[in-house]
This record gives sequence, C-alpha cells and structure tokens, in this order.
Amino acid sequence: MENRPLEYDYTVAKMFMLTTIILGIVGMAIGVFIAFELAFPGLNTVFGEGLAEYTNFSRLRPLHTDAVAFGFTVSGIFATWFYVGQRVLKVSMAESKFLMFIGKLQFWLYVIGVAAVVVSLFMGYTTSKEYAEFEWPIDIAIVVVWVLWGVSIFGLIGIRREKSLYISVWYYIATFLGVAMLYLFNNMEVPTMLATSPAGEGAIGDWMHSVSMYAGTNDALVQWWYGHNAVAFVFTVPIIAMIYYFLPKESGQAIYSYKLSLLSFWGLMFVYLWAGGHHLLFSTVPDWMQTMGSIFSVILILPSWGSAINMLLTMKGEWQQVAASPLIKFMVLASTFYMFSTLEGPIQAIKSVNAIAHFTDWIVGHVHDGTLGWVGFMIIAALYHMAPRVFKRELYSKSLMAAQFWIQTLGIVLYFTSMWIAGITQGMMWRAHDEFGNLAYSFIDTVDVLHPYYALRGTGGLLYLAGFFIFAYNIYKTWTSNKEVDAERLNASPMGA
Ligand code: HEM
Ligand code: HEM
Repeated sequence: MENRPLEYDYTVAKMFMLTTIILGIVGMAIGVFIAFELAFPGLNTVFGEGLAEYTNFSRLRPLHTDAVAFGFTVSGIFATWFYVGQRVLKVSMAESKFLMFIGKLQFWLYVIGVAAVVVSLFMGYTTSKEYAEFEWPIDIAIVVVWVLWGVSIFGLIGIRREKSLYISVWYYIATFLGVAMLYLFNNMEVPTMLATSPAGEGAIGDWMHSVSMYAGTNDALVQWWYGHNAVAFVFTVPIIAMIYYFLPKESGQAIYSYKLSLLSFWGLMFVYLWAGGHHLLFSTVPDWMQTMGSIFSVILILPSWGSAINMLLTMKGEWQQVAASPLIKFMVLASTFYMFSTLEGPIQAIKSVNAIAHFTDWIVGHVHDGTLGWVGFMIIAALYHMAPRVFKRELYSKSLMAAQFWIQTLGIVLYFTSMWIAGITQGMMWRAHDEFGNLAYSFIDTVDVLHPYYALRGTGGLLYLAGFFIFAYNIYKTWTSNKEVDAERLNASPMGA
C-alpha cells in the first residue's frame, strides 16, 4: 500500500452537504410552522383563504416529515458516505471517472426527485401512506437514485485498497439493502390510468394516482413493516455508521469493542424486522402478530443499547473531552438520546402502555427525542467534523458551535417534555368515564387543555431551528473563510483513515 496520503475527492460529498443543510432548514421551518398551527389554528389561513389549501396543517405535515426524513436525513447519509466511504476503503473517487459520474448523476437526479416531491405534495397528490406518500412516477425516480447509490457503494468497495471492511461500511450496506427491500415492497401499486371503465368509456384513472396492491389489514401490515423499518434503516442504522466513524476520529479513541459492534449489528438486523406490529396494537391484525411485535420491541433494547453503550464507552478515560469540545458533546448527547428513545419505544410497545400512548402526543414526543436528539445531532456533528477537511479551511467559530449546542438541547428538552405531559393528559382524558360508562370529556375538552403544551413545543422547535441557522452560518463562514488548513494534518489520529 502507498505511504503517500491519498488525495480524496469530496465533490459529491460537498454537494450533499449543501442539500442536507438546505432541506434541513426547509423541513424544520415547516415543522415549526405546523407546530404553531396546532397551537394557533388561525395560522391555517394566515396567508389568506385562497392559499389555505396549500398552507393548512394536513397539506404541510407530509412535507415536513418527508423533507426531514428523505431530504435532511438521507442527504446527510449520502454526504457522509461519500466522505467516509473513500477514507475507510482507502480509495479516492477521483480514481474512477465512472464512479465520479455516477455520484454526480445520483445527486442531480436526487435534486430533481426532491423538486417533484415538493411540487406534487403541495398540489395534493398523495398515496396517503405515511412516509410513502409519493406517487408512482416519483417512486420510480427514487428507485433509480437508490440504485445509483448502490453502484457507488459497491463500486468503491470493488476498487478499494483496504482489505477489511470497517464496521461503518457494514451499516451503510445494510442501509442500502434494507431501504431497497422496504421501499419496493411497500410501494407496489397500480396506476389508475391503467384502469378502464366497464362501460367502455376508456381510461378512468389519473396518471398521478395509484392504488396499493395490498388491501385492508394486509396493506396496514406491509405499511407498518415499512414504516417501522424506515425508522431502522433511515433513522438508526446509517446514523450508527456515522457515529462509529466520526466519534473515534474526533476523539482519537478506538471503538470500545469491535466485537460488540458486530454483535449489535446482527442483533439489530434480526430483531428490527419483526417489531413493526407495535404500530398496529388493538387493530384488526391477528393477536399473535401484535404480541410478537410487542415482544420483539422489548428484545430490541438489547442490540440498541449494545450499540449505544459501545459508543459511550469509546470515551472511557477521556471524559474531559466532553467538557472541552462542543463537537464531542453533540455526539455523546446523540448516543444518550439514542439510549433514551430506544428505552422509551419498547415501553410504548407494551400493550397496556400503548393503550394510553397510541394516537397521543407522547408518540410525537418519542419521535422527536429520537430524531432531534439522535439523528439531528449526529448529522450536525458529522458535518462539523467534515467541514474543515472538505473545505480545507479552519472551522469559523467553536463558540458559535457551543452556543448552538445549548440552544438546541434546550429546544429538544422543551419539545419532548411538553409532548410527554400533553400525551399522557390526552390518553387519560380520552379514557376517563363515569360510573355509567359515559365519557367524562368531549374531544374538544382535550384540545383546550393541550394549548399551552403545543405553544411550548412550538417554542422548543423554534429554538432547535435557530440553532440550525447558527450551524448553517458557521459552515458557510468556514467554507468562504481564507484561513486555510492542512486537511490531512487534521486527520493525524490513531485511527488511520
Ligand atoms: C424544528 C424542529 C421540528 C419541529 C418543530 C417539528 C414539529 C413536528 C410536528 C408539529 C409534527 C406533527 C405532529 C402531529 O401530527 O401531531 C411532526 C411530525 C413528525 N416529525 Fe417533526 N419537527 C421538527 C423536526 C423534525 C426532524 C429533524 C425530524 C426527523 C429527522 C422530524 C420527524 C418527524 C416525524 C417522523 C413526524 C411524524 C410523527 C408521527 O407520525 O408520530 N421532525 N413534527
Ligand atoms: C428499540 C427501539 C424502538 C422501539 C421498540 C420503538 C417503538 C415505538 C412504538 C411502540 C411506537 C408507537 C406506535 C404507536 O402506538 O403508534 C413508535 C413510534 C415511532 N417511533 Fe419508535 N421505537 C424505537 C426507536 C425509535 C427511534 C430510535 C426513532 C427515531 C430516531 C423512532 C421513531 C419513531 C417514529 C417516527 C414513530 C412514529 C411512527 C408514526 O406513527 O408515524 N423510534 N416507536
């Protein structure tokens, strides 16, 4: 192997860093807006009655969820792959004109796909399946983008110099395969333009409309097998890939246990796929499937905590770094939030607890301590680590990073605490009844009670968004700064690549 350090090519990584930040801002700004819409319903028509069709909560909600999941998070996954992949495989994208072309093509098709998603969701085209709202032409474009990413992953692996595959690469491969399988099965649909009227009047459908190939309970089962595993393969597995690379690199500490990382890997792969039933407790799904969903959810604590403890113990003996470095703080808090949401999730999956939690804001709280604390913080940390190395400039401001950390942490705490109180209050009020079995409260009573908590959640979201603006500014100033650094010197750490 050569001694000369490789000159890695970060063109595609930088392109995806840009979309991570832009789509992060868009998705979170919509999140803040819809959070305030729930607190102050008048906001649904704030841009005028004429535009209310586009600005009401229900039209904007999927734009929020899809922008943060498939915009912000998936861009972050691509950006980090095009950085981490080259380094751990010891091969530069510049060595293959073909892979470079594929990477750029993937980026531009992704941008076109995102534009199509935004326009079609705004126009009201939706399959109405959560996290799978896109109509079939967009699904096809997404499959092409995904296949191109696969070509990059396996192409780089094919020409690598490093024989062993670092654990992060395993997690990226699992992300690729997992999402491909889930997406294809859940989006099996028939465009209605293929349907013809029995009366012989020709086509009766619309080219932007389809029906699922599954029906009723089967459809729900496939949807939540997909929905839950989207959590696994978008919000968990690739984020673990990131932390296993960036935490050791940033701290100079080797991963606490490589064996534990492999054990948790196979544990997650096996257990996650059976837990989706916990979204359908007390539904028409057969009882044994619901029970299986609950049981596998509780077992899921083991591989989840295996990964989280491995991340935290990587800092063993070096805890002073947590106090000294805001970047390490982001990653340590990310793993802590991971532990937290993977304890909360299994608790919510226990049938008797789910009877209170389901349909309430406690679930929304669970979603956001995972996504804001774990996913958001880890992607932010990864981009902060990458910025000086890909732009070859010194980081603009460490104190701004520290301020961002505290502002966003406060935002998350406000978000999930308000949702916990709101959720449990809702759950209890919905169930309360008098001695004759009459409901003690009407639905509107619960809505009234929730108002202050919704306002508090909106404020927490606003703080998180403000912190994200600081992040965008800090990265922009780093990119355009004239303080050059020797990027390879920054990488001198015991971890090699
Ligand atoms: C500025 C921060 C954010 C705010 C204020 C916010 C706000 C919201 C609101 C109001 C909802 C709708 C809740 C409901 O229907 O009752 C929601 C749903 C959701 N958000 Fe966010 N969000 C933020 C950031 C994020 C991020 C960064 C992610 C992912 C990376 C995310 C993922 C989701 C998901 C998956 C849902 C659907 C939850 C469910 O169906 O239970 N959010 N968000
Ligand atoms: C051991 C791991 C986990 C388990 C067992 C688990 C369990 C659960 C349960 C029981 C629900 C509520 C289902 C319902 O009643 O509607 C839920 C919802 C959800 N969880 Fe988790 N969770 C885990 C980890 C996570 C993590 C780490 C994240 C994100 C980073 C996450 C994101 C979500 C989302 C987005 C939903 C809402 C889905 C929806 O209704 O739209 N979960 N989870």
